[in-house]
Amino acid sequence: MKKFLALLLALVMTLALAACGGSGNTPANNGGNSGNASDAGGNSGGEDTTEPAGEQVGAGKVIGIAMPTQSSERWINDGANMKAQLEALGYEVQLQYAEDDPQTQVSQVEGFVAQQVDCMVIAAIDGGPLVPVEEQAKAAGIPVIAYDRLLKDTDAVKYYASFDNEGVGTAIGQYIKDAKDLEAARAAGESYTIEFFMGSPDDNNAVLLHKGIMGVLEEYLNDGTLVCKTGRTSFDDTCILRWSQETAQQMCENYLSGYYADEPLDIACSAFDGFSYGIRSALESAGYTVGENWPLITGQDAELMAVKNIISGHQTMSIYKDTRLLAEKCVGMVNAVLSGTEPEINDTTTYNNNVLVVPSYLCTPIPVDKDNYEEIIVEGGYYTADQLAG
Ligand code: BGC
Repeated sequence: MKKFLALLLALVMTLALAACGGSGNTPANNGGNSGNASDAGGNSGGEDTTEPAGEQVGAGKVIGIAMPTQSSERWINDGANMKAQLEALGYEVQLQYAEDDPQTQVSQVEGFVAQQVDCMVIAAIDGGPLVPVEEQAKAAGIPVIAYDRLLKDTDAVKYYASFDNEGVGTAIGQYIKDAKDLEAARAAGESYTIEFFMGSPDDNNAVLLHKGIMGVLEEYLNDGTLVCKTGRTSFDDTCILRWSQETAQQMCENYLSGYYADEPLDIACSAFDGFSYGIRSALESAGYTVGENWPLITGQDAELMAVKNIISGHQTMSIYKDTRLLAEKCVGMVNAVLSGTEPEINDTTTYNNNVLVVPSYLCTPIPVDKDNYEEIIVEGGYYTADQLAG
């Protein structure tokens, strides 16, 4: 009976979360600009915790969340949303950031095992060094959920909550194809120059993203409609360790001075908003001007600064990934593993981690640019018009 009541309560809470679009824990609330993990829950987390603690599904249970870094707004939002949504269900949350240092993250996860948390959610920096501690978690009976980035080479992972990562790349490639009308360019024998700035080699998402981009653009590179003057189109040649903005800027500076001294760069195919900020700086230093010779610049995450850059013309598009929704799906997985039920899953074939195919929920990424940001981002409550104007 007690179990039935707990399940009923979980269902009611889940429906309540769905009804209010992810419990109102929006980046619009936390602004995505808090540098402090413990503050990052913003003002929204506490509002939903109105149930008496004893009746809450998460009461008495501790969830360890390992996030990669606070240097990028998206992860601050992810951590804040997860924390707020779990706390609203009565869970105690330990939220840790490892500032892109894999060993720090290993130590944090070891700490979760030592404390015997009830469940762990990991957004890995580099999955490799985490494998042994994931096995320790499994041995200790602590379920592990992979958040946004797949945990590879382990059977300890139960579920995976992410976005359609190849779909992110497809959307970026498709955007370039449509915006530059590559079919018309091909028919007219015209061409555009393009350079690629891809994600971290230790992040499975980055590999899939590149695959998605090439699925659309490869044919235009092959027939000369797109010209990559550095010749760097493969993932290995364009990946940027730990998604470093500084490295992207340096790469872009080198490309512009070495290969684009006489001919402008038309397209910067960037896999991450952080890269796009670095690319912007490199272009400004090289004398590029918005409205004159500024290239098409892509991005990912629709960070606040990126959307501002889209409005001002310094970035062309980004991929909006609703971290509220991702958190909601992941919280559903936490509830399920702790109550012995099945969470919502929509993919059971794609994410083979070399040991098992991890049952996944993949959210849909949405391309945003100056034509649709108001509808998607502002009306969707992700950022307020004030935040974007500020
Ligand atoms: C995420 C992206 C993010 C990138 C850099 C990837 O794993 O899927 O959304 O832009 O990491 O933080």
